[in-house]
Amino acid sequence: MSINHPSFGKLDDNRIIIFDTTLRDGEQSPGFSMNLTEKIRMAEALTELGVDVMEAGFAIASPGDFESVKAIAESVGQRDDTPVIASLARAGAQDVLRAADALRNAKRKRIHIVIATSDLHMKYKLRLEPDEVIAATVDSIKLARQHADDVEWSAEDATRSDPDFLARCVEAAIKAGATTINLPDTVGYALPEDMERMYAQIRARVPGIETVILSTHNHNDLGMGVANTLAAIRAGARQVETTINGIGERAGNASLEELVMAIRTRQDAMPYANNIQTTHLLRMSRLLATITGFDVQPNKAIVGRNAFAHEAGIHQDGVLKMAATYEIMTPESVGWTKNSLVLGKHSGRAAFRDKLNTLGYKIGDNQLNDAFRRFKDLADRKKVVFDEDVVALVDDEVMRDHERIRFVSLDLHAGSKGPARAELELEIDGKTRSASSEGNGPVDATFAAIQAIFPHTANLVLFSVGAVTEGTDAQAKTTVRLEENGKMVDGQGADADTIVASARAYVHALNKLLVKRLRTEPTALSA
Ligand code: KIV
Ligand code: ZN
Repeated sequence: MSINHPSFGKLDDNRIIIFDTTLRDGEQSPGFSMNLTEKIRMAEALTELGVDVMEAGFAIASPGDFESVKAIAESVGQRDDTPVIASLARAGAQDVLRAADALRNAKRKRIHIVIATSDLHMKYKLRLEPDEVIAATVDSIKLARQHADDVEWSAEDATRSDPDFLARCVEAAIKAGATTINLPDTVGYALPEDMERMYAQIRARVPGIETVILSTHNHNDLGMGVANTLAAIRAGARQVETTINGIGERAGNASLEELVMAIRTRQDAMPYANNIQTTHLLRMSRLLATITGFDVQPNKAIVGRNAFAHEAGIHQDGVLKMAATYEIMTPESVGWTKNSLVLGKHSGRAAFRDKLNTLGYKIGDNQLNDAFRRFKDLADRKKVVFDEDVVALVDDEVMRDHERIRFVSLDLHAGSKGPARAELELEIDGKTRSASSEGNGPVDATFAAIQAIFPHTANLVLFSVGAVTEGTDAQAKTTVRLEENGKMVDGQGADADTIVASARAYVHALNKLLVKRLRTEPTALSA
């Protein structure tokens, strides 16, 4: 089988296209929404990671989604190394035109059309007859092809669709001009053997199937997202749809890092190739966690804190003698480095910039100045500054670049005698404002001061504190979740001072809320 694809040309049979949907399916899950700056930062990092296709959003879902697809198309989408930028669209003219509009300026673009094909979805959700689904498929693909050479068609709930009807739909989609055909396990119901059967049937039955790329998109409701993706590859799929940290609707999607490392580690059984720079995986995972405020669980494969930690004495002994005794891949191959002392308080800007380059950051002069100032402050207060500290600090700084409310300073009086008092300075739309408030402890006083400077009706629903590294002088990493009119946002902050980190997290959450207020609710999409 050799395909000549509009975006990828002739592909070797063992080449796997990595389609990342962190910014669409991932962002769709509750609590994981990102603002424009964060999405662009993610898009840059995904490009450096080496994904082939980046689903930037669902353009018609809201004005905010449209703007972010457009902004990614006009930033990352202009780079020489840009991935194909995709927007999701349902099978209707308005959706397709909105996607086409958002993607207009991307150098490489894809319109991704989805429509459900299972009886359950057609009858109860779409209220369409099967023939109407085929007609909508054909019409929307034809329209999309007027705006993009690269068009993907997805049969939502494919794994629970009637095989004969699915085959009819796929055939119609190919004839109408689709260049990638995706058969999602939308509800995470399939077993690996179901996947193999479905792809084998489609490949055997559908004329022209050898001219398109077959894709797979698997949800993790039964914990089989990655296993099902591998089964689909065995059965002929050559595009995999994944997300960083496996985020996505409900239990999430197949995780990019697990999938890529499974293929790399088991080349004996799965001799497939892709373009992912695996040494970026940990950084990518951490960046997403910093942006969304959701850390991965410690035992998460590849990127969890314990993924390469050996606790049992017998294991430690084995690893010291020969790492391969208990390590099936090297920690370095996915980006773990030994905690290294990075820089001291006497280090200059050039050394700091050099360190950032080594860690994979390319930031502008203004951000560098702010980050350097914070690094100096940290180096004054913390005995040892690790790479992880620099990453937390720079992510914190970069993420806040365009925010309306900015943290300036905090002075605290707290202890066991009497109420705590916080004197806080914030910058709002460029103007410095200050307030002094009392509270039941330093966090309460600080949050009250934020309320005094920037009155708002949001409720605090979660406040959590973690540490970036070990030791009592470790930087604190805090998460604040705010809720307003049913909308939930998470803010993050990092600082050597836990209360400053808390103030930063609160301010970050408020900024996200401001962005959310400008967005209308995304149209419900069951995918
Ligand atoms: O899960 C799903 O079916 C989807 C489609 C839009 C591909 O996310
Ligand atoms: Zn999905």
